[in-house]
Amino acid sequence: MLELAYTQNKAAIRQLWDAAIIKEFAINRQKKLDYFGLPGPDIRDLVDWKDHIGFITGVEYSDLKNGRDKDVQIAKISKLMQNLMLLDHSENWEVRKGRLEDIILNGADVDGNKPFKLTLEKNRPSNMYYDIHNWDFQGGLGYSNRKNVDDKVEAIKRCMQLQRGHPFLFLLTLNVRHNLKKEPKEYLLARAREHKELEEILNWYANKSNKRGMDHYCTKALVPLFIRETAHQSSYDCFTYPPLYYQGPSEHLLHFVFLLSPKETILPSFSSQEFSDVVSQPLIRVEKGKFIFPEQHPSFNKNQAVNFLRGHNLPIPK
Ligand SMILES: C[S@@+](CC[C@H](N)C(=O)[O-])C[C@H]1O[C@@H](n2cnc3c(N)ncnc32)[C@H](O)[C@@H]1O
Repeated sequence: MLELAYTQNKAAIRQLWDAAIIKEFAINRQKKLDYFGLPGPDIRDLVDWKDHIGFITGVEYSDLKNGRDKDVQIAKISKLMQNLMLLDHSENWEVRKGRLEDIILNGADVDGNKPFKLTLEKNRPSNMYYDIHNWDFQGGLGYSNRKNVDDKVEAIKRCMQLQRGHPFLFLLTLNVRHNLKKEPKEYLLARAREHKELEEILNWYANKSNKRGMDHYCTKALVPLFIRETAHQSSYDCFTYPPLYYQGPSEHLLHFVFLLSPKETILPSFSSQEFSDVVSQPLIRVEKGKFIFPEQHPSFNKNQAVNFLRGHNLPIPK
C-alpha cells in the first residue's frame, strides 16, 4: 500500500517538475519521445506524460526462480501490460522482464528479448536510441553483490555508452540509503581539493555524510558530478536540474534529471553548464506535494536558484 505522502509527492514531481522538462525537450526535439524505464504496473508516469511519449519499453522485475515473490511479479507484469494496452499504445509498446540493470548490461531480458530500440550488430558497437530513460528505482547505489562493482553504477556507465550520439533525458530516482561506505565523502573531498573556490561548499556536502539523517546532502552533491563525468566519457554535454528530495513508501528518495546532448567529440567532452553551477544547485524538498527550500549549503544564492527555476518553468519553492 502506497503511503499518501509518497503518492502526493510523486504526483507533484511527475506533473509539475518532470512534465515541464519533458515538454520543453519534446518541443525542442519536435517529436514524441521514445521511453525506456520503470513505469510500474499503474504507469502513472506514462499517463501524466502521454502527450509527449512515443514508443514505450516498460521494464518490470521478474525472477521466476524466486518462488516467494513469483505470484506478485506475475500479477504486476500482467497489470502493466493491461494498462499499456488501455493507454492506447497498442502497437507502440513492449514489456521487458527482469532487473533493469541486467537488461542494460546484458542487452536482453530474462526471456532473451532485447529492448526494441537497442541494436546489436555483429562487429559493430551496440547502440540504444531512446529519448527518455526513467530509472525510477526504490533502491540505492552500492548494494550489488559483486566486490567493488555496483550494477546500478555500471548500468549507468553502459547506458551512456549505448546511447552515445543520441540526445536524451535521464531521470534517475534513488533511495538515499547507499552502500558506498566512505566513497561519496572521499569523492567530494577530492573535488574540493581540485576546486579551491568551491572548497567550502564541497566540504560542507562531504561532511554531511557524518551526520545522522543528513547523508542525502552528500548523495545530492555526488550523483550529478558522477553522472556528468560519466556522460563526458561518452561525449555528452550534461545539463543537470536541481535534485529533489522526498518521502518514499518506506524510505527517503532523491530524484535527478539530466539533459544529455551529444557533442560528437573523439576525446571525452565537457559541458556548457559550469561545474560550479552544478555544485551550487539547491536541494529542493517535496513535502505534501509542495516544493520547499530546506537547509542549503553555505553562500547559497536563492535569487539565482529562483531565476533558474523560473527560466525553466519549474515550480518555485517556498
Ligand atoms: C517506483 S515504481 C514506478 C513508478 C512510476 N514510474 C510512477 O511514476 O508512478 C518502480 C517499479 O519498477 C519496479 N522496479 C524497481 N526497481 C527495479 C529494477 N531494478 N528492475 C526492474 N524493475 C524494478 C518496481 O517493482 C515497481 O513496479
